[in-house]
Amino acid sequence: MQEIISPARAIDGVVTPPGDKSISHRYGMLGAIAEGTTTISNYSTGADCQSTLGCMAALGATVERKDGKAVIHGGALREPAAQLDAGNSGSTIRMLSGILAAQRFTSRIGGDESLSRRPMQRIIQPLTEMGASIEARDEKFPPLTIHGRELHGIDYTLPVASAQVKSCVLLAGLFAKGDTIVREPVRTRDHTEIALAEFGADIEVERRVITLREGAKLTGRELYVPGDLSSAAFFMVAALLMPEANLVIHNVGLNPTRSALLDFLVSMGASIKVLDLQQSGGEVIGDLRIRASKIQGGEISGALTAGLIDEIPALAVLGAGSEGGLTVRDAAELRVKETDRIATIASNFERMGVKIETSHDGFHVPGNQKFHAAEIEPEGDHRIAMAFSIAALAADGPCTIHGADVAGVSFPEFFSTLREIAR
Ligand code: S3P
Repeated sequence: MQEIISPARAIDGVVTPPGDKSISHRYGMLGAIAEGTTTISNYSTGADCQSTLGCMAALGATVERKDGKAVIHGGALREPAAQLDAGNSGSTIRMLSGILAAQRFTSRIGGDESLSRRPMQRIIQPLTEMGASIEARDEKFPPLTIHGRELHGIDYTLPVASAQVKSCVLLAGLFAKGDTIVREPVRTRDHTEIALAEFGADIEVERRVITLREGAKLTGRELYVPGDLSSAAFFMVAALLMPEANLVIHNVGLNPTRSALLDFLVSMGASIKVLDLQQSGGEVIGDLRIRASKIQGGEISGALTAGLIDEIPALAVLGAGSEGGLTVRDAAELRVKETDRIATIASNFERMGVKIETSHDGFHVPGNQKFHAAEIEPEGDHRIAMAFSIAALAADGPCTIHGADVAGVSFPEFFSTLREIAR
């Protein structure tokens, strides 16, 4: 499927983003292993999160979808009849592997072509240290064959800033003998820690050290998933690129380990107001108002890179339209996302006549650039499709986004929402 995006000059309206992808995965997995019923409102509509529910159903949980809710009857898992399909979802395969490593059965989990190229050594290594037995293609790629074993807790310092790896170890730790400790060099999203506490795990977080005590029983819960700030980011950037904008983002997750985006945009000159704040299931939810602003340049490096990792494609587009450009460093992780995002950002900028210089772990996009009408190739990467749809709004003619349906991985309603708010 392709989408044609015409130039716009204003963004105006109220957007309610889909349920947060990261939180939905965690609630879906924990609901399936918790005793009793978990009811999840506003569960993500994205394909990735349906992959998680599909896997949990194949592992024996009863999963029903009604009135926008996911209702899961959880408990002990059982051996799946076939290979588990994580689709395009790195979160599904990496986090679920932690659970599978501790079961009394062997399972196999894989996914699509993009997922089959993504590194799994980062989870195989700590899980093996816990006593797991895992085989991978070429020792590092999916599919994974996981022979369930009795695991023991470890004290693990993450070598990469990755919430998926942290979560994988903690989920394995739920079934392990002894306590599990994870130490983070850089703070990453803490939805797993929050969700584990909500489901009744005995977990303690002190700065960047997480301790999960052995033996807690998880019980089903009623939960609400806040809107996805990483999905909302595309429209926020659109508002900041246009000469006229008055955009409200309703019910969006503002967990402090995710909301670096707000501070960063404000540091670039964005007018963003937090209109309302509430708490739900330990997560912070709010409404935002974004108005047209004059945007300066910015730099993303060090710990900030981990905090903005999913927003960098959208921020790259804003950087090209800003006064001072955008520099991104310490972002080698971008090279192992759904695509090599440094390469797919650069190739699509080149198609639009936008200059960019890349390095092994980042890029520099000069500011004040013109976006020219082009054919955009997201190469099967949802965030590249959405980021360049926003660039297309600022282009000098209509742009074609090829393979645009890939946006459905995280945000199936992206294009219909964009048409509602762009004029
Ligand atoms: C995620 C963590 C990040 C992020 C991904 C979702 C999560 O990946 O890029 O979209 O839900 O834990 P890494 O853990 O690989 O950094």
